[in-house]
Amino acid sequence: MTRLLSGLAVLSSLTSIQVLASQAATKQDPIPACEWHPPLLQNVCLNSASSPEQSTTKPSPFSKTRSEWAKLGWDGPNDCLPTMPDYCVYTRIPESEPASGSPFVVISTAKSMTAIAGSTPPFLGKNKKPVSPRDVYTQEFPGKGTGVVANRTIKKGEIIKAEMPTLLLQFDMPDNDSKPGAQNGANELSREERLGIYGKAVERLDEVSKKKFMRQVGGDVVGIVDKNSFRLFVDGDEGHLGVWADVSLFNHDCRPNTHYRIQNLTHITVAVRDILPGEELTVSYIEGTIPYAERQERLESWGFKCACHACTQDLSQIAQSDARLKAITGIEEELEQLVKSGDDFPQDIGDRLVQLYVDERLDNYIAHAYTKAALLKSMIGNKKDAIKYANMAVEALEREYGPDTKDGDAMRGLAERTEEHWSWGVRMGGWAM
Ligand SMILES: *[C@@H]1O[C@H](CO)[C@@H](O)[C@H](O)[C@H]1NC(C)=O
Ligand SMILES: *[C@@H]1O[C@H](CO)[C@@H](O)[C@H](O)[C@H]1NC(C)=O
Ligand SMILES: *[C@@H]1O[C@H](CO)[C@@H](O)[C@H](O)[C@H]1NC(C)=O
Repeated sequence: MTRLLSGLAVLSSLTSIQVLASQAATKQDPIPACEWHPPLLQNVCLNSASSPEQSTTKPSPFSKTRSEWAKLGWDGPNDCLPTMPDYCVYTRIPESEPASGSPFVVISTAKSMTAIAGSTPPFLGKNKKPVSPRDVYTQEFPGKGTGVVANRTIKKGEIIKAEMPTLLLQFDMPDNDSKPGAQNGANELSREERLGIYGKAVERLDEVSKKKFMRQVGGDVVGIVDKNSFRLFVDGDEGHLGVWADVSLFNHDCRPNTHYRIQNLTHITVAVRDILPGEELTVSYIEGTIPYAERQERLESWGFKCACHACTQDLSQIAQSDARLKAITGIEEELEQLVKSGDDFPQDIGDRLVQLYVDERLDNYIAHAYTKAALLKSMIGNKKDAIKYANMAVEALEREYGPDTKDGDAMRGLAERTEEHWSWGVRMGGWAM
């Protein structure tokens, strides 16, 4: 089980906004259309240039000599599998690291390695850099193990960590590539074979990183990868699993105070509300809008019981929380219907959605609610509220998705030139459409 859930969930929760956006394709649009870009979690598109046909008998057209890899900053290929000669271990050469570089070992094919070696760290924003390592510390928590704690007030929007993976490995290829005998990553290997090559890769880490890697939950190296990895795609579609050993120290909370995204192999953790000194930093391993019972079930399928406040509060509070979550789902469904039917939007539907997110403390996905509210207000011709929510959306989108978010541009356009935006007035009392 890998941390696929949160990314997929975000995708599905955005379908209705895409409906809203496509409705408006009729108007000429000088402002970027509100295409919704899901977090790069699921799709780290590193391109290794056009790819010649790969065959299993010929060496990969991306193969390089050791000295060519060394020029790119990588030691390899090492420990290649006899059964998949193009599936090898590569280690980042320390001298080639950027100042904040961390140890980094990859098990992959020459093709994916070409994209990985060419990837650059993402732009974090003007004057934005992660907090100092002294601003957080680790602490043992009875019943849940090590956690990360703030050593000073960390403000909403501050970047807590921006890290390269400790281990990245190719797991699978797109279905069409999985011809019999094709090189298909760890998914094709027996547990024994995985133990062998994962173990060899981890051995190539320095002592400190090896220790950090091995202290994660999961037991042996295969268990650790299965329990702690995030899935990402290199070169469009080649599934990899990445383990960020320091990130694994963040404990789960259903109403976390940080949000994370993965951009160009960098795992970025951002505070989504002000965090006080001594407060634990948390992330959510699952999406926020699923009700209590299902939450428990999902988390148990990963081998732990949900012990965060949202799960342990008293039954009446749990019931209230579930009622809010149900109301959120209800509004989303109502919106889909209203968009399809062409009926008038209730004036306050956007406000209600935002208020539910706020009351439920879904701070880590609030950009979604603000964006929808801004569009809805604009569609019914309420300029003042459209601008208010669009500005809130810009701030939240940049916090959650980084400074280059296209949705942020669209929302900025809506705030600055409301009446030119595609959404303006399209549902204004009967005459607009
Ligand atoms: C990721 O890396 C590629 C290749 O270096 C670069 O073109 C792209 O801008 C980077 N993406 C981000 C989000 O920084
Ligand atoms: C926490 O901050 C204080 C004051 O800046 C500093 O002296 C201390 O070393 C920090 N603690 C850790 C664990 O880094
Ligand atoms: C696989 O290839 C077929 C034929 O080229 C194509 O129609 C199909 O969409 C492909 N499937 C995937 C998952 O790429």
